[in-house]
Amino acid sequence: MILKSLTLKNFKSYSAETFSFHDRCNLIIGENAQGKTNLLEAIHFLLAFKPFKQLRSEEVVSFGSTECRLKGEIQSQAGFDEINILLDENHKTLKLNSKVVYKTSKVSTRYNVVTFLPTDIDIVKGSAQVRRKYLDAIICSIDPAHLRDLKLYQRALGQRNAILVKPSSLTLDKIEVWDEQLAEIGSQVILRRVSFVNRIRPVLNKIYKQTSGLDQEIGIHYQSSIDLNSNIEQSFKDELKLKFEQDKKRFHTTVGPHRDKLSFSISEKDASIYSSQGEAKNLALALKVSEIEMINQFLGRTPILLLDDITSELDNNRIRFLFKLLQDFTGQIFITTTSMKEILYKGHIRGFHIKDRIVRQKDIQT
Ligand SMILES: Nc1ncnc2c1ncn2[C@@H]1O[C@H](COP(=O)(O)OP(=O)(O)OP(=O)(O)O)[C@@H](O)[C@H]1O
Ligand SMILES: [Mg+2]
Repeated sequence: MILKSLTLKNFKSYSAETFSFHDRCNLIIGENAQGKTNLLEAIHFLLAFKPFKQLRSEEVVSFGSTECRLKGEIQSQAGFDEINILLDENHKTLKLNSKVVYKTSKVSTRYNVVTFLPTDIDIVKGSAQVRRKYLDAIICSIDPAHLRDLKLYQRALGQRNAILVKPSSLTLDKIEVWDEQLAEIGSQVILRRVSFVNRIRPVLNKIYKQTSGLDQEIGIHYQSSIDLNSNIEQSFKDELKLKFEQDKKRFHTTVGPHRDKLSFSISEKDASIYSSQGEAKNLALALKVSEIEMINQFLGRTPILLLDDITSELDNNRIRFLFKLLQDFTGQIFITTTSMKEILYKGHIRGFHIKDRIVRQKDIQT
């Protein structure tokens, strides 16, 4: 899968710009606040139909504008696609090969992107919610059924919680309808998460050892509020019944996949508490590399890589490892940097120098 070109109109700091990309390595070079990360964000928006996690869609529209447009041409095994995205204050319109796509979930796994962002360390050091969201995001990127189930689950959960906040109208039979739905959909969500965690575990261990050079055991654990050793749907239903009185008092549902936790350990010590900054960075890097391998295993595809400011986050050993990996990687890569000196990639590179909102394109041989 190759992103051949991208045209932006009023996307963050880009008022009107067209980029023609190299099939392998694209380098986005510029000083701080020139729009390097914005360009990666635009690529992510085009391929994943949403911005990086921190932003709402309307925040990508340039200051002072009311709408923004993105157009991209993508070459994949399936053929040649043209994507058009229009964002205005109220909504997003997506067109794939001139046809409007009403449900993005229908096309959510059509393209695959893996991002390396400076904030990735939060997957290790951040809250349980960040890790749960990360796990769901990877599963969604390879299995559209997971995205559909998460949405259905959230809806059923919202309905159950809405009944719990109105104790006067609360009866067991009203709740039971939603309990059935939560258990049916929620058990699928849990099963997919558990199965994915079991599959990524050996890959993550192998890659962590390669990147760190250390023989440490990496644990990835899924802790559920539901008993996973028997029929999950039935256990979930039983648990909802059991916690009914407690849920009534707390006005929300206290069991289910929305409360489950994903945790990592290094040599059996909880990584969110005990890992050093370097260990956490290394684990985050190993996870991202594992993500590439999982996409390959599940879908037989190579994702596009977006690497933001990687060198500022890693020590020299990790940087060498990462560039070795990029050198062997067969897909398309986009890297942002403030200085060419930090880039150890050898080969043909297309450079995009950005300064004062002007983009200069130049092919380089390193
Ligand atoms: N909606 C928007 N409209 C216009 N400009 C925006 C918008 N959102 C952000 N910007 C501008 O984009 C610039 C930041 O761009 P970006 O984050 O891509 O910089 P960068 O080149 O990655 O910098 P750094 O090296 O510091 O990471 C800021 O000056 C910010 O004001
Ligand atoms: Mg940046």
